[in-house]
Amino acid sequence: MNQSFNHVVVLTGAGISAESGLSTFRDNNGLWDNHRIEEVATPEAFDRDPHLVHRFYNMRRAALKTVYPNAAHQILADIETDFESFLLVTQNVDDLHERAGSKQLIHMHGELLKQRCIQCHQVSATDEDLTVESVCQSCQRAGTLRPHIVWFGEMPLLMDEIMQSLLRCDLFVSIGTSGTVYPAAGFVELANQAGAHTVELNLEPGDQANAFQTSLHGRASEVVSQFFDNL
Ligand code: APR
Repeated sequence: MNQSFNHVVVLTGAGISAESGLSTFRDNNGLWDNHRIEEVATPEAFDRDPHLVHRFYNMRRAALKTVYPNAAHQILADIETDFESFLLVTQNVDDLHERAGSKQLIHMHGELLKQRCIQCHQVSATDEDLTVESVCQSCQRAGTLRPHIVWFGEMPLLMDEIMQSLLRCDLFVSIGTSGTVYPAAGFVELANQAGAHTVELNLEPGDQANAFQTSLHGRASEVVSQFFDNL
């Protein structure tokens, strides 16, 4: 399919899952149950009120059972073998990319369908509610499980691998993200420095809009196919 791009990095955010029915963070003022997202998504919040934090993630985990990948997820899964190298980096903690069939995928902010023990550090799959009584199947301790989610103030996952791909990419495409949360918000500048062509596909210009060489604004299900079909 592709003539001119060989090394592609795609970054996705909540906007790509919006048409599947999952809410984005900042379109509704980033409020959940009268709490700012930043107040339920921090290690301090988990220390202060683990019940509240578990409730927030249990609700989001349960919501996955009622949604499906949309056309934009599908296109990204379909094109991943069209290039010499392709890496899909998502800030999303839903599983819609893998359900669409994506394999070259990094969840830099963690996954709703995984839990982690804060004592033995074991990461395991889960699709059930977590509570303060939940028992770690690995070390058998109770009350030590947390969502395997990167909270504000924590280090995103697999940054070395992401950086390596960014520094050698010749095409960087950002889809459905407001460009407000670092380090992901800085990827476009790194890709520019690497000499890549940089593209924003989003409902509206995000915070990094001026850094992109090309922009297409509209719903992800439309602009993602419009862009990749014309490559
Ligand atoms: N198609 C394309 N873009 C859309 C659509 C759509 N159908 N609907 C909304 N958008 C755009 C919005 O205009 C907005 O710019 O998606 C973007 C979503 O931005 P945010 O809600 O800020 O989500 P995101 O950028 O993924 O947030 C980054 O912040 O709270 C943390 O860890 C969380 O990973 C998340 C990070």
